[in-house]
Amino acid sequence: MPHPDRFLLAGVMGWPVMHSRSPMMHNYWFKQHGLAGTYVPLAIPPERLAGALRGLHPLGFAGCNVTIPHKQQAMKIVDEVDTLATAIGAISCVVVRSDGSLAGTNNDCYGFIQSVKAEQPGWRADAGPIVVIGAGGGSRAVCYGLAREGAKEIRLVNRTLVRAQEIAVQFGSPIKALPWEQRHDALEGAAMVVNTTSMGMVGQPALDIRLDKLGKSALAADIVYIPLETPFLAAARKRGNRTMNGLGMLLNQGRPAWKAWFGIEPEVTPELRAMVEKTI
Ligand SMILES: NC(=O)c1ccc[n+]([C@@H]2O[C@H](COP(=O)([O-])OP(=O)(O)OC[C@H]3O[C@@H](n4cnc5c(N)ncnc54)[C@H](OP(=O)(O)O)[C@@H]3O)[C@@H](O)[C@H]2O)c1
Repeated sequence: MPHPDRFLLAGVMGWPVMHSRSPMMHNYWFKQHGLAGTYVPLAIPPERLAGALRGLHPLGFAGCNVTIPHKQQAMKIVDEVDTLATAIGAISCVVVRSDGSLAGTNNDCYGFIQSVKAEQPGWRADAGPIVVIGAGGGSRAVCYGLAREGAKEIRLVNRTLVRAQEIAVQFGSPIKALPWEQRHDALEGAAMVVNTTSMGMVGQPALDIRLDKLGKSALAADIVYIPLETPFLAAARKRGNRTMNGLGMLLNQGRPAWKAWFGIEPEVTPELRAMVEKTI
C-alpha cells in the first residue's frame, strides 16, 4: 500500500500524446482507490526522451508508460529491461526503483491475453490455428503472448514479409511467416484472426482482406480501438463471427503497471470501460 502522505505520480510519454486515453484510466483508479495522486500526459519529443526519463526519479514519479514513438528508444535508455520486453523488442512501461534506477517492461502482451480471457470465457490459445496480420510492435506482443499461452500454429502475415520472418526466427515454433498475398487463404481452418496492423484505424484505409474462408465459429480480434469497430470487425460481425476490439488490451495493460508502481492491481470495471468508450 502506498504511504498515505505521498502524492502519487505517474504519466505517459509520447509525441504526440494528448489523444491518449491512459490519463483517464489511471486517474479513475486513483479515485476508485481513494488515493491522492495523478497521471499526466507528457508530450516529449524524441530528443528529450533520455532527459525526461532521468527526470522521473527527482520529480518523485513512480514510473511512466511510453508510447509511440518512444517504445524502442526508451529501451536503450533505461538501466534494465526484463526478458519479456527484450523478446518483444520494445518497452511500454518504466518503473522507477528506490535507488533511482529505471526498469523497463512490456505490458502489451499481458493486456492482449488478459482481454481475450476476460471477454471470451473458455478461450484457449491451442483451440486451432491463429492468423496474426501485421508484424510491428503490437504484433510482437500478441505473438509472444499467444505462443506463451500454448498456441500450436500462428500464421503470421505481413505486407513486408521479412519482418514476419524475423519474428518467426526469433520466437521459433509455432510461428509461420506467410507472404501478404496469402492473407485471405490463411484464414481457412483458423480458430482466431487478429489484426495488429494500423489499417482500419481512424484516418487509415480499411484492412484489405476477404473473409470468405474464415469459419463462422472463429473469433475475429483487432488491437485497434479507434474506432471501436473497425471495418474488418464490422465485416466479421456481419457474417456471424464473434469479435473483440483493442480497447480491452489497452485497459488491461494498465493493471500490471499500477501493481509495479503502487503495489495495487486495479480492476477493469464496466464503469471504466464505458467511460473510456464514451470518448471514442
Ligand atoms: N490496443 C492496444 O493496447 C494497442 C497496443 C499497441 C498497438 N495498438 C494499435 O495497433 C496498431 C499497430 O501498432 P504498432 O505499434 O504495432 O505499429 P507498427 O509497429 O508501426 O506496425 C504497423 C504494422 O501495420 C502494417 N501496415 C502499415 N500500413 C500498412 C498497409 N498500408 N498495408 C498493410 N499493412 C500495413 C505494417 O506493415 P509493414 O511491416 O509492411 O510496414 C506493420 O505490420 C496501431 O493502430 C496501434 O494504435 C493497440
